[in-house]
Amino acid sequence: MRQSASKRVLVTGGAGFLGSHLCERLLAQGCEVLCVDNYFTGSRNNVAHLTNSPRFELLRHDVTLPLHVEVDEIYNLACPASPVHYRHDPIHTMKTSVLGAINMLGLAKRLNARILQASTSEVYGDPSVHPQPETYRGDVNPIGPRACYDEGKRCAETLFFDYHRRHGVEIKVARIFNTYGPRMHPEDGRVVSNFIVQALRGDPITIYGDGTQTRSFCYVDDLIDGFLALMDSPAAVTGPVNLGNPGEFTMLDLAEKVLKLTGSSSRIIHRELPQDDPRQRRPDITVARTVLGWRPRVPLDAGLKRTIAHFDALLGRPGLRTAAE
Ligand SMILES: NC(=O)c1ccc[n+]([C@@H]2O[C@H](COP(=O)([O-])OP(=O)(O)OC[C@H]3O[C@@H](n4cnc5c(N)ncnc54)[C@H](O)[C@@H]3O)[C@@H](O)[C@H]2O)c1
Repeated sequence: MRQSASKRVLVTGGAGFLGSHLCERLLAQGCEVLCVDNYFTGSRNNVAHLTNSPRFELLRHDVTLPLHVEVDEIYNLACPASPVHYRHDPIHTMKTSVLGAINMLGLAKRLNARILQASTSEVYGDPSVHPQPETYRGDVNPIGPRACYDEGKRCAETLFFDYHRRHGVEIKVARIFNTYGPRMHPEDGRVVSNFIVQALRGDPITIYGDGTQTRSFCYVDDLIDGFLALMDSPAAVTGPVNLGNPGEFTMLDLAEKVLKLTGSSSRIIHRELPQDDPRQRRPDITVARTVLGWRPRVPLDAGLKRTIAHFDALLGRPGLRTAAE
Protein backbone atom coordinates (compact mmCIF):
# COMPACT_ATOMS: atom_id res chain seq x y z
CA MET A 1 0.00 0.00 0.00
CA ARG A 2 1.25 3.44 -0.97
CA GLN A 3 2.44 5.65 1.92
CA SER A 4 1.13 8.94 0.67
CA ALA A 5 -0.92 10.41 3.50
CA SER A 6 0.29 14.02 3.25
CA LYS A 7 1.97 13.93 -0.15
CA ARG A 8 1.30 17.01 -2.29
CA VAL A 9 0.84 16.04 -5.91
CA LEU A 10 0.60 18.28 -8.96
CA VAL A 11 -1.41 16.92 -11.91
CA THR A 12 -1.11 19.01 -15.07
CA GLY A 13 -4.00 18.40 -17.46
CA GLY A 14 -5.88 17.28 -14.34
CA ALA A 15 -9.29 18.37 -15.65
CA GLY A 16 -8.98 16.12 -18.71
CA PHE A 17 -10.07 12.53 -19.21
CA LEU A 18 -7.10 10.69 -17.66
CA GLY A 19 -6.19 13.56 -15.34
CA SER A 20 -9.59 13.63 -13.65
CA HIS A 21 -9.41 9.89 -12.91
CA LEU A 22 -5.88 10.30 -11.61
CA CYS A 23 -6.89 13.20 -9.31
CA GLU A 24 -9.75 11.07 -7.99
CA ARG A 25 -7.47 8.13 -7.20
CA LEU A 26 -4.78 10.30 -5.58
CA LEU A 27 -7.38 11.95 -3.33
CA ALA A 28 -8.73 8.52 -2.39
CA GLN A 29 -5.19 7.61 -1.32
CA GLY A 30 -5.01 10.60 1.01
CA CYS A 31 -2.84 12.90 -1.14
CA GLU A 32 -3.26 16.64 -1.49
CA VAL A 33 -3.91 17.29 -5.16
CA LEU A 34 -3.21 20.44 -7.14
CA CYS A 35 -4.97 20.15 -10.49
CA VAL A 36 -3.64 22.53 -13.15
CA ASP A 37 -5.39 22.95 -16.48
CA ASN A 38 -6.06 25.55 -19.17
CA TYR A 39 -9.42 23.87 -20.00
CA PHE A 40 -8.60 23.52 -23.69
CA THR A 41 -10.01 19.98 -23.87
CA GLY A 42 -10.67 19.37 -20.19
CA SER A 43 -13.44 20.89 -18.13
CA ARG A 44 -14.31 21.80 -14.57
CA ASN A 45 -17.22 19.35 -14.84
CA ASN A 46 -14.74 16.47 -14.95
CA VAL A 47 -13.50 17.36 -11.46
CA ALA A 48 -16.62 19.04 -10.05
CA HIS A 49 -17.20 16.05 -7.75
CA LEU A 50 -13.74 16.54 -6.21
CA THR A 51 -13.98 20.24 -5.39
CA ASN A 52 -15.65 19.62 -2.00
CA SER A 53 -12.51 17.95 -0.74
CA PRO A 54 -10.27 20.28 1.31
CA ARG A 55 -7.31 18.37 -0.18
CA PHE A 56 -8.21 19.31 -3.76
CA GLU A 57 -7.22 22.57 -5.43
CA LEU A 58 -7.94 23.67 -9.00
CA LEU A 59 -5.81 26.21 -10.84
CA ARG A 60 -6.30 27.61 -14.35
CA HIS A 61 -2.84 27.79 -15.88
CA ASP A 62 -1.17 27.06 -19.21
CA VAL A 63 1.91 24.84 -18.80
CA THR A 64 3.73 26.71 -21.56
CA LEU A 65 4.25 29.34 -18.83
CA PRO A 66 6.39 28.75 -15.73
CA LEU A 67 4.60 27.66 -12.57
CA HIS A 68 5.83 28.27 -9.03
CA VAL A 69 4.19 25.93 -6.53
CA GLU A 70 5.39 23.60 -3.77
CA VAL A 71 4.69 19.90 -4.36
CA ASP A 72 6.32 16.51 -3.77
CA GLU A 73 5.36 14.78 -7.04
CA ILE A 74 4.34 15.86 -10.53
CA TYR A 75 2.26 14.03 -13.13
CA ASN A 76 2.63 15.91 -16.42
CA LEU A 77 -0.48 15.09 -18.47
CA ALA A 78 -1.24 18.48 -20.02
CA CYS A 79 -1.58 18.11 -23.79
CA PRO A 80 -4.53 17.65 -26.11
CA ALA A 81 -4.58 13.94 -26.96
CA SER A 82 -6.96 13.53 -29.86
CA PRO A 83 -6.09 14.42 -33.47
CA VAL A 84 -9.04 16.85 -33.81
CA HIS A 85 -7.78 18.82 -30.84
CA TYR A 86 -4.02 18.60 -31.27
CA ARG A 87 -4.29 19.64 -34.91
CA HIS A 88 -6.55 22.58 -34.06
CA ASP A 89 -3.48 24.67 -33.09
CA PRO A 90 -0.45 22.52 -33.95
CA ILE A 91 2.06 25.14 -32.83
CA HIS A 92 0.50 25.43 -29.40
CA THR A 93 0.39 21.61 -29.19
CA MET A 94 4.13 21.49 -29.80
CA LYS A 95 4.70 24.30 -27.27
CA THR A 96 2.58 22.46 -24.72
CA SER A 97 4.71 19.32 -25.03
CA VAL A 98 8.08 21.04 -25.23
CA LEU A 99 7.72 24.18 -23.09
CA GLY A 100 5.39 22.28 -20.75
CA ALA A 101 8.10 19.63 -20.23
CA ILE A 102 10.80 22.29 -19.70
CA ASN A 103 8.66 24.18 -17.17
CA MET A 104 7.61 21.07 -15.26
CA LEU A 105 11.12 19.57 -15.29
CA GLY A 106 12.50 22.89 -14.04
CA LEU A 107 9.96 22.78 -11.22
CA ALA A 108 10.81 19.14 -10.42
CA LYS A 109 14.51 20.02 -10.35
CA ARG A 110 13.98 22.96 -7.98
CA LEU A 111 11.71 20.95 -5.67
CA ASN A 112 13.63 17.69 -5.90
CA ALA A 113 10.29 16.13 -6.88
CA ARG A 114 9.61 12.98 -8.87
CA ILE A 115 8.00 13.66 -12.22
CA LEU A 116 6.01 11.37 -14.51
CA GLN A 117 5.50 12.16 -18.17
CA ALA A 118 2.38 11.01 -20.01
CA SER A 119 4.07 10.03 -23.26
CA THR A 120 2.38 8.05 -25.96
CA SER A 121 2.53 5.08 -28.29
CA GLU A 122 2.53 7.74 -31.04
CA VAL A 123 6.29 8.00 -30.48
CA TYR A 124 6.41 4.71 -32.43
CA GLY A 125 4.69 6.36 -35.41
CA ASP A 126 3.58 3.83 -38.02
CA PRO A 127 5.55 0.90 -36.57
CA SER A 128 7.24 -1.86 -38.52
CA VAL A 129 7.65 -4.02 -35.38
CA HIS A 130 4.67 -5.74 -33.72
CA PRO A 131 3.93 -5.62 -30.89
CA GLN A 132 6.04 -2.57 -30.02
CA PRO A 133 8.65 -2.95 -27.25
CA GLU A 134 10.16 0.16 -25.62
CA THR A 135 13.42 -0.50 -27.51
CA TYR A 136 11.73 0.10 -30.87
CA ARG A 137 12.65 3.62 -32.01
CA GLY A 138 9.66 4.29 -34.16
CA ASP A 139 8.90 5.56 -37.62
CA VAL A 140 7.51 9.07 -37.37
CA ASN A 141 6.99 11.52 -40.20
CA PRO A 142 8.53 14.75 -38.81
CA ILE A 143 6.66 17.03 -41.20
CA GLY A 144 3.25 15.38 -41.39
CA PRO A 145 0.00 16.61 -39.85
CA ARG A 146 0.43 14.41 -36.76
CA ALA A 147 4.01 15.55 -36.16
CA CYS A 148 3.06 18.39 -33.78
CA TYR A 149 1.88 15.72 -31.35
CA ASP A 150 4.24 12.82 -32.11
CA GLU A 151 7.42 14.87 -32.35
CA GLY A 152 6.35 17.08 -29.43
CA LYS A 153 6.05 13.99 -27.26
CA ARG A 154 9.35 12.60 -28.56
CA CYS A 155 11.08 15.88 -27.73
CA ALA A 156 9.51 15.85 -24.26
CA GLU A 157 10.97 12.37 -23.69
CA THR A 158 14.39 13.68 -24.74
CA LEU A 159 14.09 16.54 -22.26
CA PHE A 160 13.07 14.15 -19.48
CA PHE A 161 16.13 11.97 -20.04
CA ASP A 162 18.48 14.97 -20.34
CA TYR A 163 17.18 16.48 -17.06
CA HIS A 164 17.66 13.05 -15.51
CA ARG A 165 21.24 12.61 -16.80
CA ARG A 166 22.31 16.23 -16.35
CA HIS A 167 20.48 17.21 -13.16
CA GLY A 168 19.58 13.90 -11.51
CA VAL A 169 15.83 14.59 -11.71
CA GLU A 170 13.86 11.45 -10.83
CA ILE A 171 11.84 10.78 -13.96
CA LYS A 172 9.19 8.25 -14.96
CA VAL A 173 8.17 8.07 -18.62
CA ALA A 174 4.95 6.19 -19.43
CA ARG A 175 4.14 5.43 -23.05
CA ILE A 176 0.37 5.24 -23.05
CA PHE A 177 -1.51 3.22 -25.63
CA ASN A 178 -5.15 3.94 -26.53
CA THR A 179 -7.07 4.33 -23.30
CA TYR A 180 -10.82 4.75 -23.00
CA GLY A 181 -13.49 5.17 -20.37
CA PRO A 182 -15.97 7.58 -18.81
CA ARG A 183 -15.21 11.32 -19.25
CA MET A 184 -13.61 11.00 -22.66
CA HIS A 185 -14.59 14.08 -24.63
CA PRO A 186 -17.72 13.13 -26.61
CA GLU A 187 -16.68 15.10 -29.70
CA ASP A 188 -12.96 14.47 -29.90
CA GLY A 189 -13.07 11.89 -32.65
CA ARG A 190 -11.27 9.14 -30.72
CA VAL A 191 -12.54 5.83 -31.94
CA VAL A 192 -14.18 4.42 -28.80
CA SER A 193 -16.07 7.60 -27.89
CA ASN A 194 -16.89 8.20 -31.57
CA PHE A 195 -18.47 4.79 -32.06
CA ILE A 196 -20.39 4.90 -28.77
CA VAL A 197 -21.77 8.40 -29.36
CA GLN A 198 -22.72 7.53 -32.95
CA ALA A 199 -24.42 4.31 -31.83
CA LEU A 200 -26.33 6.01 -29.00
CA ARG A 201 -27.52 8.78 -31.31
CA GLY A 202 -28.50 6.27 -33.99
CA ASP A 203 -26.07 7.94 -36.41
CA PRO A 204 -24.01 5.86 -38.85
CA ILE A 205 -20.79 4.45 -37.35
CA THR A 206 -17.85 5.86 -39.29
CA ILE A 207 -14.95 3.55 -40.02
CA TYR A 208 -11.91 5.06 -41.71
CA GLY A 209 -10.55 2.76 -44.42
CA ASP A 210 -11.73 -0.84 -44.66
CA GLY A 211 -11.79 -1.35 -40.88
CA THR A 212 -9.14 -4.09 -40.79
CA GLN A 213 -6.59 -1.82 -39.09
CA THR A 214 -6.13 -2.82 -35.46
CA ARG A 215 -5.85 -1.04 -32.14
CA SER A 216 -5.60 -2.12 -28.52
CA PHE A 217 -7.80 -0.54 -25.88
CA CYS A 218 -6.96 -0.09 -22.21
CA TYR A 219 -9.64 0.75 -19.67
CA VAL A 220 -8.88 3.93 -17.72
CA ASP A 221 -8.80 2.30 -14.24
CA ASP A 222 -6.09 -0.09 -15.42
CA LEU A 223 -4.05 2.77 -16.86
CA ILE A 224 -4.24 4.75 -13.60
CA ASP A 225 -3.05 1.65 -11.70
CA GLY A 226 -0.08 1.65 -14.08
CA PHE A 227 0.66 5.36 -13.47
CA LEU A 228 0.62 4.88 -9.69
CA ALA A 229 2.79 1.76 -9.87
CA LEU A 230 5.31 3.54 -12.08
CA MET A 231 5.45 6.63 -9.87
CA ASP A 232 6.03 4.42 -6.81
CA SER A 233 8.69 2.25 -8.48
CA PRO A 234 12.35 2.44 -7.34
CA ALA A 235 14.28 5.54 -8.48
CA ALA A 236 16.29 3.46 -10.96
CA VAL A 237 13.11 2.76 -12.95
CA THR A 238 12.92 5.69 -15.33
CA GLY A 239 11.02 4.03 -18.17
CA PRO A 240 10.04 4.43 -20.85
CA VAL A 241 7.41 1.88 -19.93
CA ASN A 242 4.56 0.89 -22.23
CA LEU A 243 1.17 0.99 -20.52
CA GLY A 244 -1.70 -0.45 -22.51
CA ASN A 245 -3.80 -3.50 -23.11
CA PRO A 246 -2.24 -5.98 -25.56
CA GLY A 247 -5.64 -7.32 -26.68
CA GLU A 248 -5.86 -6.42 -30.39
CA PHE A 249 -9.11 -5.64 -32.20
CA THR A 250 -9.94 -4.45 -35.69
CA MET A 251 -12.09 -1.37 -36.08
CA LEU A 252 -14.82 -3.63 -37.43
CA ASP A 253 -14.63 -5.82 -34.28
CA LEU A 254 -14.98 -2.72 -32.13
CA ALA A 255 -17.89 -1.32 -34.13
CA GLU A 256 -19.73 -4.63 -33.86
CA LYS A 257 -19.16 -4.83 -30.10
CA VAL A 258 -20.45 -1.29 -29.62
CA LEU A 259 -23.53 -2.00 -31.74
CA LYS A 260 -24.26 -5.14 -29.72
CA LEU A 261 -23.73 -3.54 -26.30
CA THR A 262 -25.75 -0.40 -27.07
CA GLY A 263 -28.49 -2.33 -28.89
CA SER A 264 -28.21 0.32 -31.60
CA SER A 265 -29.42 -0.19 -35.14
CA SER A 266 -26.86 2.27 -36.58
CA ARG A 267 -25.28 1.13 -39.82
CA ILE A 268 -21.54 1.11 -40.51
CA ILE A 269 -20.18 3.48 -43.18
CA HIS A 270 -16.63 3.79 -44.51
CA ARG A 271 -14.60 6.99 -45.03
CA GLU A 272 -11.14 7.63 -46.49
CA LEU A 273 -8.23 6.70 -44.22
CA PRO A 274 -6.44 9.83 -42.87
CA GLN A 275 -2.77 10.45 -43.75
CA ASP A 276 -0.18 8.63 -41.58
CA ASP A 277 -2.84 6.53 -39.84
CA PRO A 278 -1.01 3.51 -38.35
CA ARG A 279 -2.15 0.07 -39.62
CA GLN A 280 -1.54 -1.69 -36.37
CA ARG A 281 -0.80 -0.69 -32.79
CA ARG A 282 -0.27 -3.08 -29.93
CA PRO A 283 1.87 -2.71 -26.79
CA ASP A 284 4.48 -5.16 -25.65
CA ILE A 285 3.98 -4.84 -21.87
CA THR A 286 6.74 -7.20 -20.75
CA VAL A 287 8.57 -4.35 -18.97
CA ALA A 288 5.45 -3.16 -17.11
CA ARG A 289 4.63 -6.75 -16.13
CA THR A 290 8.08 -7.66 -14.90
CA VAL A 291 9.31 -4.34 -13.45
CA LEU A 292 6.03 -2.94 -12.08
CA GLY A 293 4.04 -6.16 -11.62
CA TRP A 294 1.30 -4.41 -13.62
CA ARG A 295 -1.10 -5.78 -16.15
CA PRO A 296 -4.50 -4.62 -17.35
CA ARG A 297 -7.46 -6.47 -15.82
CA VAL A 298 -10.63 -4.99 -17.30
CA PRO A 299 -11.82 -6.88 -20.42
CA LEU A 300 -12.99 -4.79 -23.39
CA ASP A 301 -16.67 -5.73 -23.04
CA ALA A 302 -16.76 -4.77 -19.34
CA GLY A 303 -14.97 -1.46 -19.99
CA LEU A 304 -17.22 -0.67 -22.93
CA LYS A 305 -20.33 -1.27 -20.80
CA ARG A 306 -19.13 1.26 -18.18
CA THR A 307 -18.20 3.77 -20.88
CA ILE A 308 -21.53 3.34 -22.66
CA ALA A 309 -23.37 3.93 -19.35
CA HIS A 310 -21.44 7.19 -18.93
CA PHE A 311 -22.22 8.47 -22.43
CA ASP A 312 -25.81 7.35 -22.17
CA ALA A 313 -26.25 9.52 -19.06
CA LEU A 314 -24.34 12.40 -20.68
CA LEU A 315 -26.31 12.38 -23.91
CA GLY A 316 -29.54 11.97 -21.99
CA ARG A 317 -28.98 15.33 -20.32
CA PRO A 318 -31.32 17.95 -21.75
CA GLY A 319 -29.61 20.01 -24.42
CA LEU A 320 -26.74 17.72 -25.31
CA ARG A 321 -28.42 15.20 -27.58
CA THR A 322 -30.61 17.93 -29.06
CA ALA A 323 -27.65 20.24 -29.62
CA ALA A 324 -25.96 17.63 -31.75
CA GLU A 325 -29.06 16.75 -33.78
N1 LIG B 1 -6.11 8.79 -23.60
C1 LIG B 1 -5.21 8.17 -24.32
O1 LIG B 1 -5.51 7.17 -24.97
C2 LIG B 1 -3.78 8.67 -24.37
C3 LIG B 1 -2.86 7.94 -25.14
C4 LIG B 1 -1.54 8.37 -25.19
C5 LIG B 1 -1.14 9.47 -24.47
N2 LIG B 1 -2.05 10.16 -23.73
C6 LIG B 1 -1.57 11.36 -23.02
O2 LIG B 1 -2.16 11.46 -21.74
C7 LIG B 1 -2.40 12.82 -21.41
C8 LIG B 1 -3.87 13.00 -21.05
O3 LIG B 1 -4.67 12.62 -22.16
P1 LIG B 1 -6.26 12.59 -22.09
O4 LIG B 1 -6.71 11.44 -22.90
O5 LIG B 1 -6.71 12.72 -20.70
O6 LIG B 1 -6.59 13.90 -22.93
P2 LIG B 1 -7.44 15.20 -22.56
O7 LIG B 1 -7.45 16.06 -23.75
O8 LIG B 1 -8.75 14.78 -21.98
O9 LIG B 1 -6.59 15.84 -21.40
C9 LIG B 1 -5.55 16.76 -21.58
C10 LIG B 1 -5.73 17.87 -20.58
O10 LIG B 1 -4.65 18.79 -20.73
C11 LIG B 1 -5.18 20.11 -20.73
N3 LIG B 1 -4.24 20.95 -21.47
C12 LIG B 1 -3.97 20.93 -22.80
N4 LIG B 1 -3.04 21.85 -23.11
C13 LIG B 1 -2.71 22.46 -21.93
C14 LIG B 1 -1.80 23.49 -21.60
N5 LIG B 1 -1.04 24.10 -22.52
N6 LIG B 1 -1.74 23.89 -20.28
C15 LIG B 1 -2.51 23.29 -19.34
N7 LIG B 1 -3.38 22.32 -19.61
C16 LIG B 1 -3.47 21.89 -20.89
C17 LIG B 1 -6.54 19.98 -21.39
O11 LIG B 1 -7.41 21.05 -21.14
C18 LIG B 1 -7.02 18.67 -20.81
O12 LIG B 1 -7.68 18.85 -19.58
C19 LIG B 1 -1.97 13.64 -22.64
O13 LIG B 1 -0.67 14.14 -22.40
C20 LIG B 1 -1.95 12.63 -23.75
O14 LIG B 1 -1.03 12.98 -24.74
C21 LIG B 1 -3.36 9.80 -23.67
